Amino acid sequence: MSGRIPKSFIDELIARTDIVEVIGSRVPLKKAGREWKACCPFHGEKTPSFTVSQQKQFYHCFGCGLHGTALTFLMEHDHLPFPEAVEDLAGRLGLEVPREGGSTEGPERHLDDLYALMASADQHFRDALRDSDRAKDYLKMRGLVGETAARYHLGYAPAGWEAILKKFGSTDAGKQALLTTGLVIERNADAQRNQGPGYYDRFRDRIMFPIRDARGRVVGFGGRVLDQGEPKYLNSPETPLFHKGRELYGLYEARQELRQIDRLLVVEGYMDVVRLAQAGIHYAVATLGTATTPEHLNRLFRVTGDVVFAFDGDRAGRQAAWRALETCLPFAKDGKRIQFLFLPDGHDPDSLVASEGREAFEARVASATPLSEYLVQHLMVDIDLSSVDGRARLAEIGRPLLQKVPDGVYRELLIDRLAREVRMSGPRLANLLGLGGGPATPVIDMTRRPRPITGRGSLLSQALAYVLQYPSAAAAVKDPESLRLGGERGLEVLAEIIEMLHESPKLSTAQLVERWRDRPEHGRLTALASQVLPDLPSEAAQREFISAVERLAREAGPERRVDELIQKASDSGLSDDEKQELRELQARMRPAAKPPR
Ligand code: GTP
Ligand code: MN
Repeated sequence: MSGRIPKSFIDELIARTDIVEVIGSRVPLKKAGREWKACCPFHGEKTPSFTVSQQKQFYHCFGCGLHGTALTFLMEHDHLPFPEAVEDLAGRLGLEVPREGGSTEGPERHLDDLYALMASADQHFRDALRDSDRAKDYLKMRGLVGETAARYHLGYAPAGWEAILKKFGSTDAGKQALLTTGLVIERNADAQRNQGPGYYDRFRDRIMFPIRDARGRVVGFGGRVLDQGEPKYLNSPETPLFHKGRELYGLYEARQELRQIDRLLVVEGYMDVVRLAQAGIHYAVATLGTATTPEHLNRLFRVTGDVVFAFDGDRAGRQAAWRALETCLPFAKDGKRIQFLFLPDGHDPDSLVASEGREAFEARVASATPLSEYLVQHLMVDIDLSSVDGRARLAEIGRPLLQKVPDGVYRELLIDRLAREVRMSGPRLANLLGLGGGPATPVIDMTRRPRPITGRGSLLSQALAYVLQYPSAAAAVKDPESLRLGGERGLEVLAEIIEMLHESPKLSTAQLVERWRDRPEHGRLTALASQVLPDLPSEAAQREFISAVERLAREAGPERRVDELIQKASDSGLSDDEKQELRELQARMRPAAKPPR
């Protein structure tokens, strides 16, 4: 079993790598001011909104919103799991990737072991299905036949806490691999005190849906309860093999079945994919209980230019559809067909195809609503176009949406379609929407305007964005500890970053973000690291940062805690410790005594 990659090595790797070189070897970058630009490799576009900053060692696409470090880029662009992306960068520099725990095995070997374990678990669940009448009856009740179950490798995880654990976890290395792939869960500390250290099976008494990657390797599982239990579906956690936001359930199986995939239908559930395939519709795929991500769209459009999204007709379905539309806009370009299918209320593809059959269902798919139509209809709903206000509102709501659409014939058609609706000429509407005027790239101009600081949340975000993007500013904060007084999570994060920089003042934006990779705040920090700030000289940036930190510290400081304690005193009374704390805080806050006359 190989150990973890030490954090200090990631630091070194990022420090010695040049992101411009890494991305430049895959995407033709052009110098634009201090940054580099290209047409985004993750979504289709004609004018470049993908930027790479050498200084921050960070990339960001203003079109589709993807961003990150050199490691993130390799993970997304080359579809590498994290350890392999690390290997790739290290290989370029001629470095050996060290492992904690003194292991000698390489990471490839380690991943191979994990894939092998997932394959064995898959077989184990399929065997168990064969032996369980209860599970077979359930699938029969859902209308599935044996052939379908076999095609999708459906299985069954028997009830009981230690089936998988006993079978594959006889050695320490085996247990570790089970834990890494998420097949078992480690008992929490409380339980360990009572029962000793240990693990238990994650999936118990569930129908198992293996999730296979493009190469057919099992990377994760979804498990459904057979009766009313909660949660209805349980997925594998994020693991070195499995990233929920990237996988599409059923894509591998579709590829196996169809010589050529002309169209993909994106549905919400495992059961929908499987039931549709049984009805002869082999081109359905599902996201795994998450909203559609740009990474999903990338994968979809690499397979085909014709994608239909199916949603339930209820409110939640419509909300999900609109979110999907927004994610799709940067990908909407010439030669692509993106459509939306709204199902009758109370139905999903599974129930619908069961009740009306393949032909009727495919007729619905064929008459799905094109993205342009859906967008225009949606915009029209609340807007009274006969009034001046209505037109202003259309400009306000429509502008940010249309700006996401890559410049090109598709966008022009969309504007023309909307113009007809508003009874205006195309160019005039384009102008109103701020989309006219030659080859300017309004997407970027819009985002460049720094957002005004309003609430407390945005003050914190602003402070975090500044320290991530102008790390040298941290040196001016003398007492980050004071941010911790209120015990507020966000402020603790800020304090920790400042302290990291006091210790290692040369850390880059990318290094800071990489230090948070395994922690819950990683996503938010990545986003803040690429948020557009005003382009300031470093002293001015430092002043902005300090003033934000001072305000935050003031609010986190004794006043807030005192208010809290006083409130508590009147609500439920204070413990002796709290009384003491209150006295001390009040003493600290009292203005210094005036010198005697
Ligand atoms: P059936 O009830 O078996 O027909 O499933 P369904 O696919 O119709 O379920 P539903 O429409 O409720 O959910 C759609 C998808 O969302 C599922 O396939 C899962 O991927 C995901 N999902 C649903 N319920 C849960 C849950 O409780 N937890 C998680 N993590 N995902 C869920
Ligand atoms: Mn269903």
